[in-house]
Amino acid sequence: MSTQTWVVTGGAGFIGSNFIHFIREKYGASVVIHNVDKLTYAGNLNNLKGIEVGDSYYFHQVDIADERALDEALQDVQVDGIIHFAAESHVDRSISGSRPFIMSNVVGTDTLLAFAKQRGVSRFVHVSTDEVYGALGEEGEFTETSEIAPSSPYSSSKAGSDLLALSYYKTFGLPVMVTRCCNNYGPYQFPEKLIPLAVTHLLQGKSVPVYGKGNQVRHWVHVNDHSAAIDRVFHAGRAGDVYNIGGPSEHQNIELVRKILTQMQVSEDKIEYVKDRLGHDFRYSVNDDKLRRELGWVPKINFDEGLSATVDWYKQNTDWWQDIHSGAYQEQNLRLRKG
Ligand code: NAD
Ligand code: TYD
Repeated sequence: MSTQTWVVTGGAGFIGSNFIHFIREKYGASVVIHNVDKLTYAGNLNNLKGIEVGDSYYFHQVDIADERALDEALQDVQVDGIIHFAAESHVDRSISGSRPFIMSNVVGTDTLLAFAKQRGVSRFVHVSTDEVYGALGEEGEFTETSEIAPSSPYSSSKAGSDLLALSYYKTFGLPVMVTRCCNNYGPYQFPEKLIPLAVTHLLQGKSVPVYGKGNQVRHWVHVNDHSAAIDRVFHAGRAGDVYNIGGPSEHQNIELVRKILTQMQVSEDKIEYVKDRLGHDFRYSVNDDKLRRELGWVPKINFDEGLSATVDWYKQNTDWWQDIHSGAYQEQNLRLRKG
């Protein structure tokens, strides 16, 4: 592959940083990466340990909703492709206050799309979520043509950004692909999400809050499988198309928490049933036949094995999450962003 230059937004977050590691391992210096990240509370440059600024990798602390800052930061860069992860991503935070979700997810995506159009970018992957389809009951699954029926301010803002992205294809011919993935897990996930929250609570001797009865079902994929899927879509996806990304298995929240307790050899007394989330989606299940059939992707990481490696990662990387709890990571960000 000849050298290409990609803009990765949100590359200091959980999935974006794992994606940058994945791309570096796969393509080395033949892909030059410009990571554009605002460094919100979820942005953590410690996630990019081992990747040095200047070595075909550049960092820009920019809010994607800031048109001028985006243009200035990338003025001398010939952008071949954009992989767009940047977003506010936590449902509970969107219930506490939706405005940042509208600003980053809707206004930010709109600004980035206009930038891509103006620069004539030839590939644009908009990374979205299965949550735009709303909730399922005990049966059924989401296909790419399922109704868009989001429940939370988070998923509604993502749905808005998906539709904007697709409109840029229909109206302007911008070669946009939208991916809708299920729940991700793996290293560097901010410890507000269920798996890292459970593990880090247990490591501190605290209980794990389980919302409602814990009978909600989530479809899980390892973040490296998600990165591989995005890479396939970037290179071989059809412009204007949506690709669902599923995973090897679905689990009830309580079943998942019990797996973590078992691995960590902690008793079930540490389960604390708490008030349910408002508007809590009952079940997600993603049909990804299109991605498997057309682009030959399959998830490689078995859930129990991936979960076990992930629990071990949080056990072995206590500094990483303790620096988040203490807030030290934000001072480290100030130092690291300069390279
Ligand atoms: P995250 O919250 O861990 O990271 C988000 C990153 O985006 C952070 O580094 C943050 O600083 C940055 N960011 C936020 N607003 C920004 C802005 N206005 N300008 C520039 N940067 C900004 O999120 P994540 O879990 O890594 O999710 C990444 C993407 O994948 C999101 O678009 C999310 O909707 C989608 N997604 C996530 C999951 C999941 O299970 N986590 C599943 C499917 C899809
Ligand atoms: P989360 O990791 O926030 O992802 P999402 O809401 O995007 O699926 O939550 C996963 C599931 O776990 C969801 O059904 C809510 C539930 N949950 C808890 O039971 N306790 C918790 O402390 C958290 C954060 C989530």
